[in-house]
Amino acid sequence: MPTYITNNSKETQKLGEMLAQEIKGGQIICLTGDLGSGKTTFTQGFLKGLKVKGPYTSPTFLIMKKYDKNIYHIDAYRVKAKDILALGWEEMVKDNPPAGGSVIIIEWADRLKKIIPTPPAGGSIWIKFKWLGENKREIQFV
Ligand SMILES: Nc1ncnc2c1ncn2[C@@H]1O[C@H](COP(=O)(O)OP(=O)(O)OP(=O)(O)O)[C@@H](O)[C@H]1O
Ligand SMILES: [Mg+2]
Repeated sequence: MPTYITNNSKETQKLGEMLAQEIKGGQIICLTGDLGSGKTTFTQGFLKGLKVKGPYTSPTFLIMKKYDKNIYHIDAYRVKAKDILALGWEEMVKDNPPAGGSVIIIEWADRLKKIIPTPPAGGSIWIKFKWLGENKREIQFV
């Protein structure tokens, strides 16, 4: 699967925007990678690409932020799977593939691995972020 190198945050946002063009609803976008590797930056571009109403704030202190059109941004850094279950996870993923519906983008998704649906119940896209230098990041679609 493709691996991209970005040289500034704008390029990372652009990748997020490009991914949004491919999303037809009913997808879980799973982002992994260290602190500061660009997950939130990518998400901002993704949300922009989906044309949801901003501001696209980081949910770091919120755990989860719901945008219009059933679009969710989750930051799992400080939580466990059971915390997300308690926030209504089952309802959120119910209308995921193949029915379509909600779009969920998750930072630190590896922490929620056991509750993320796998085919045929649902589909997810996994993207790995790596810090290569002050402004350089590797973004790998797994
Ligand atoms: N090529 C790049 N891609 C993305 N961000 C970059 C890039 N170059 C520099 N940056 C900067 O790196 C930081 C990335 O932070 P960001 O919040 O997106 O990371 P994160 O992976 O969400 O971290 P956290 O795990 O803490 O949530 C930002 O300050 C951004 O401006
Ligand atoms: Mg972040």
